[in-house]
Amino acid sequence: MLVFTSAVGCSTDQPALKDVFAKDFLIGGALNDDVVNGKDPKAAAIAEKHFSTITAENVMKWMHIHPEPNKYDFAATDRFVDFGQKNNMFIVGHTLVWHWQTPKWVFVDDANNPLTREALLARMKDHIFTVVSHYKGRVNGWDVVNEALDDNGQLRKTKWMEIIGEDFIAKAFKFAHEADPSAELYYNDFSLENPAKRDGCVRLVKDLQSKGVHIDGVGLQGQAWRLEPDAPSRENLEDFINAVSALGVKVMVTEMCIDVLPKAIYQPGADLKQRAELREELNPYLDGLPDRMQKKLADRYAELFSLYRKHADKISRVTLWGVYDKTSWLNNWPVRGRTNYPLLFDRNYQPKPAFYAVVKTAQSGK
Ligand code: GLA
Repeated sequence: MLVFTSAVGCSTDQPALKDVFAKDFLIGGALNDDVVNGKDPKAAAIAEKHFSTITAENVMKWMHIHPEPNKYDFAATDRFVDFGQKNNMFIVGHTLVWHWQTPKWVFVDDANNPLTREALLARMKDHIFTVVSHYKGRVNGWDVVNEALDDNGQLRKTKWMEIIGEDFIAKAFKFAHEADPSAELYYNDFSLENPAKRDGCVRLVKDLQSKGVHIDGVGLQGQAWRLEPDAPSRENLEDFINAVSALGVKVMVTEMCIDVLPKAIYQPGADLKQRAELREELNPYLDGLPDRMQKKLADRYAELFSLYRKHADKISRVTLWGVYDKTSWLNNWPVRGRTNYPLLFDRNYQPKPAFYAVVKTAQSGK
């Protein structure tokens, strides 16, 4: 078959993912600033052609959008939202309340003493109101709270929990809903398919609902999933999808990327505090991914997308965490400086066997 490659690197015979899955769910990826600021036009071309939804990979996190107490910086986030609007994409803001990538000043007063509950709530409210109002009617959905649960399903001990208490989650959703009643609001976390964490998530959503708090969906991150069929297993994924959808909220696969490299820490899971040193044996595919691994990756992607299609009535969106392998965060986590291959497009912006395997899932029955 002849493949024509256009000037911007998208071959013209590739079906667009957003068309392929139009009847099933939105599909897209997380974008870094270079994709929208003109520095990485080939990545932008992939996003424009294939994505019906985008998420801000980093620029909307507190440390970037609100770096100092009285300073909000909307330059990069405006570029991101403009890009999404120009391309008629469903835009996801990520993330309003999280314990990572949040500056230390957020939790202390001018004298460096821990804030009181009331002062931290006021700060949270100011942040949420300022950011969400700035994009009112333009950002379609917000990851309101990110990663508030521990692996055991209990609430994670973060500064938010310590200072405000467990209602910090309900408050964050309430502020976001007040700031833009038309935006969808989500809880987003990794490893939610593990039964203990799944149950914790179900308790959390039920608790919010019983208090009349507005929540539209739960984001199953899909971060650093692996090739092994049990990481995560089909059964755990289906149980999660069914359990969350039974609560009457949407299920979204929000940060999908598949780690093909040797395990360096406990995985799957994406706890950013876990890290390991670079050793040669942890970085075996410096010169390219061997065919047998490409095939495994394609099979794994196909398995997961077939499952998403089976549950397309419950899944509203599938978002990959990045656009192409070169800029995936998995090149640097949990080990810095590796060469990983987690996405559907390779380092030369070309579709991988995994891309075609994913497309093929849409051609078969559910
Ligand atoms: C978590 C966050 C994301 C991102 C990834 C790593 O999953 O939700 O924003 O930081 O970790 O890129």
